[in-house]
Amino acid sequence: MSEQRWNAVDDYISETLLGEDAALERAQATSAAGGLPPISVTAPQGKLLQLIARIHGARTILELGTLGGYSTIWLARALPPDGRLVTLELDPSYAELAASNIAAAGLSERVEQRVGPAAESLRELIVEGAGPYDLVFMDADKPGTPAYLELVLQLVRPGSVIISDNSVRGGDLADPDTDNAGARGMRRLHELLAADRAGPGRLSATTIQTVGSKGYDGFTLALVQEVAAV
Ligand code: SAH
Ligand code: DHB
Ligand code: MG
Repeated sequence: MSEQRWNAVDDYISETLLGEDAALERAQATSAAGGLPPISVTAPQGKLLQLIARIHGARTILELGTLGGYSTIWLARALPPDGRLVTLELDPSYAELAASNIAAAGLSERVEQRVGPAAESLRELIVEGAGPYDLVFMDADKPGTPAYLELVLQLVRPGSVIISDNSVRGGDLADPDTDNAGARGMRRLHELLAADRAGPGRLSATTIQTVGSKGYDGFTLALVQEVAAV
């Protein structure tokens, strides 16, 4: 099965089910022109995130890793007019470009951007008493993801949904000897989820493998559950 075929199917899905969208196309075009890495979610994945947010009735969303704002736009559009999305980005130049794309999508009032290392921004949000966020999309640096989960757990409530992108990494997830730092981070994420399952049971999770125009990867979805009082 060739990547060419995965591309063709992503194109087919996009043409039949998603259609054209000026703001999303602007985000991709300005990101490419600005030399940002081409690592945003694909259009079908962006739509999936948006549908999950809508099915969930999310009113508050937290995103880690803004890049050019492509997934931000998909997710922020799932919100009601008084809904809010906070998105965290390390690189100030990426954040600046994302701000222009978010503005062009008419979403500036719904989206708050914070620039800096995600762990620091998360700690600030915790100190500020921000949240709880109904939906969290973790898509910043992959080695940082296990630490982000621990912090994010202080910003959610029972019923919140936490999604991590890039959790399969070409199958390296299942390789205990992988030297891919991202895959090691995702293995650690799974170990944390396994420890929680054996222990407090705060999360119920699964990981879904995906193919498409970004190759072979996947995402992890976790539901925050009530924990029985001891
Ligand atoms: N969610 C975006 C893609 C994000 S790519 C989309 O799908 O459209 C990952 C992003 O995380 C990059 O923009 C990168 O600069 C950012 N990043 C990397 N390390 C980070 C860190 N420590 N804190 C916050 N953001 C980080
Ligand atoms: C890569 C892909 C991503 O979706 C991401 O968030 C970060 C990096 C990559 O393929 O390198
Ligand atoms: Mg990603």
